[in-house]
Amino acid sequence: MNVLITGASGFLGGHLVQTLRGQKQFSLYALDRHYYEFAHCSVANYLLYGEMQKSPSEFSSEIVDGLTRNGIQAVDAIVHSAAMSSFSGCEDQPEAAERANVHFTEAISRVAKHYGAYLIYISTDLVFDGCPAAPQGGFSETDVPNPSSVYAQTKLRGERFVEELSVNGVVLRVSLLYGGPAGRNGGPLHWIVSAVSSNSKVKAFVDEWRTPLYVLDLVTIIERCLDMKPFGLFHCAGSERVSRPEFMKVIFQSLGADEALIEGCSRLEASGPRRPEDVSLCAQRLQGELGFSPTPLSQGISLSLRGFHR
Ligand SMILES: NC(=O)c1ccc[n+]([C@@H]2O[C@H](COP(=O)([O-])OP(=O)(O)OC[C@H]3O[C@@H](n4cnc5c(N)ncnc54)[C@H](OP(=O)(O)O)[C@@H]3O)[C@@H](O)[C@H]2O)c1
Repeated sequence: MNVLITGASGFLGGHLVQTLRGQKQFSLYALDRHYYEFAHCSVANYLLYGEMQKSPSEFSSEIVDGLTRNGIQAVDAIVHSAAMSSFSGCEDQPEAAERANVHFTEAISRVAKHYGAYLIYISTDLVFDGCPAAPQGGFSETDVPNPSSVYAQTKLRGERFVEELSVNGVVLRVSLLYGGPAGRNGGPLHWIVSAVSSNSKVKAFVDEWRTPLYVLDLVTIIERCLDMKPFGLFHCAGSERVSRPEFMKVIFQSLGADEALIEGCSRLEASGPRRPEDVSLCAQRLQGELGFSPTPLSQGISLSLRGFHR
């Protein structure tokens, strides 16, 4: 199966490439803006593309031409993980966010349509603004999104292309991800591990709740999608709803660090766009249809932290 991955230099994309490249049934092609040291490997082929300035249909033709030039005539599946993922970055540069999260997603959906490929689009829990807060058990696929930030608005508009272009595929709406180091920036636990090793205080919002998902659980979900090819919208989340300090506590306990270094503060004090209070997701549909069961948070954290001690 020829699988194309976008955002391979990112946290999720990096983990995805590391896991799938060892499997014989996949020929992996990673679309990347740059060519990184870590990306060099024999079975994942890295194809470069520039910053998108063209229209989505021109860009999709360019990607198809690029694939053809590299001898790739068929693409069976695409995992579209690339995004401008910085909450405040999107707010500061809404046009860049529009290009990355909306136009690029349209271009990739057109590429999927061209090849008749199965598309997996990675979206976010933040399409809900958490106001009112998530219902007991979390937001489900039938709840109506109400994004309040540029990041979330552009990600939601990206979701619509999978639907509007009638692409065969799924939208995976994902909760806050955590995991071991991967990608250009090292991933979300990197800065916490650094702070702990230098005995620095870490701030955590006492009024923000999430259902964090272990990144390798998401990789498993993606593998199941590639195998079973479900259709439609799925919420992907861990089974525990925690506040930021509770999440931080699990990390500190696993590191054997002093929990007094965790400093509670309010998300209302943070600069930039208003951060949603509670965007917990309910992953029951995923559990029922794909037989997915999430790794418990404390286990996922301890598995993640092993990656920092190698
Ligand atoms: N991390 C989370 O907690 C979380 C939660 C929910 C949903 N998600 C979604 O999951 C996906 C992966 O997130 P992540 O945490 O792996 O993000 P990440 O580490 O920031 O990686 C983002 C990837 O997208 C690429 N990218 C950024 N801007 C781009 C642009 N303008 N054009 C093309 N590529 C661009 C980056 O390439 P460069 O290296 O070249 O910049 C990188 O490969 C995203 O779709 C995100 O919205 C993430």
